[in-house]
Parts: sequence; C-alpha cells; structure tokens
Amino acid sequence: MQRARALLAFCCLILSTMGTPSADFCSHILHTNVKPGFPKTIETNNPEVRKAARLSVERFNNCTNDIFLFKESHISKALVQIVKGLKYMLDVQIARTICKKNKHPNLDNCDFQTNHTLKQTLSCYSEVWVIPWLQKFEVPVLQCH
Ligand SMILES: *[C@@H]1O[C@H](CO)[C@@H](O)[C@H](O)[C@H]1NC(C)=O
Ligand SMILES: *[C@@H]1O[C@H](CO)[C@@H](O)[C@H](O)[C@H]1NC(C)=O
Repeated sequence: MQRARALLAFCCLILSTMGTPSADFCSHILHTNVKPGFPKTIETNNPEVRKAARLSVERFNNCTNDIFLFKESHISKALVQIVKGLKYMLDVQIARTICKKNKHPNLDNCDFQTNHTLKQTLSCYSEVWVIPWLQKFEVPVLQCH
C-alpha cells in the first residue's frame, strides 16, 4: 500500500506537468462565448459527473500496481466549473473489484470484492477537466487515502 501511494504521488506529479494546451485548443477558446465561472454544485447522478468519476478511477488504475481494478462506489459531492471546457471536482469513493487488471475487463461488469482480506475502499478527491468539443480530458488532480 505504501508503495502504491508513492507511485500514485509520482503519477500525479507527472500529470500536473502535462497541461500545455495545443494551438488548436487555444483558437477554439478565442472564439467561444462561454465565460469562466465559479464552481457550482451538480447532481452526483448526472451522467457527465459519472463519466468524470469513471475517468478518475481509470486514472487511478493506470497509476497503481494493484492486481485488481478499482471502481467508483459512491460519489458524495460534485462541483463543476467552466474553465476552457468543464472542470469537475469530485469527492468519490473507490473500491477494489474482483476483476484482474491484466485481463482488461470492462469495469461495468466488475463486482466489488467481498473477501475481507481483499476488500478495500479509498476516499478520493479528483479534478477532471473535460474539453467536449475536442473529446479531450485530463485528470490533473487525484488524491486518494
Ligand atoms: C489509462 O491508460 C490507457 C492506456 O495507456 C489510456 O488509453 C487511457 O486514456 C488512460 N486513462 C486515463 C483515465 O488516464
Ligand atoms: C480471500 O483472499 C485471500 C488472499 O487472496 C485468500 O487467501 C483467501 O482464501 C480468500 N478467502 C476467501 C473466503 O475466498
């Protein structure tokens, strides 16, 4: 666990240096009428919020060397802010599933662990930045404990 945590911190460090927007992206921004706004609460069952939570957990899975995949189990709070696209800020619980990572299963079909030794739930805060018109996303912040 200690090792996974160190790895995760390392991943986040790398991620935070990857935010350089492309020229394509910048030209779009110049021609958009959307004004930056303050974060607003949004329903946790909103499909876009669910998608953002899934992206967070996928990023988590990419960053850890656990044998099993984790999946989002509960979204307790969600905020959205318009910043060059949409930025979601989520409090999300993730838990270990019975699906092995190396089998590349679809997370939708993965049940949570019931084995007491393997059961694990983490509380995460994540920020997911989605640029719908470019079908791009980033997970610049992901903190789990
Ligand atoms: C996880 O890694 C895969 C393969 O490297 C990549 O295609 C995918 O975009 C990554 N997902 C996230 C949320 O970072
Ligand atoms: C739970 O998982 C542990 C570790 O993999 C394993 O040794 C144990 O047999 C499992 N218990 C059950 C009830 O499946």
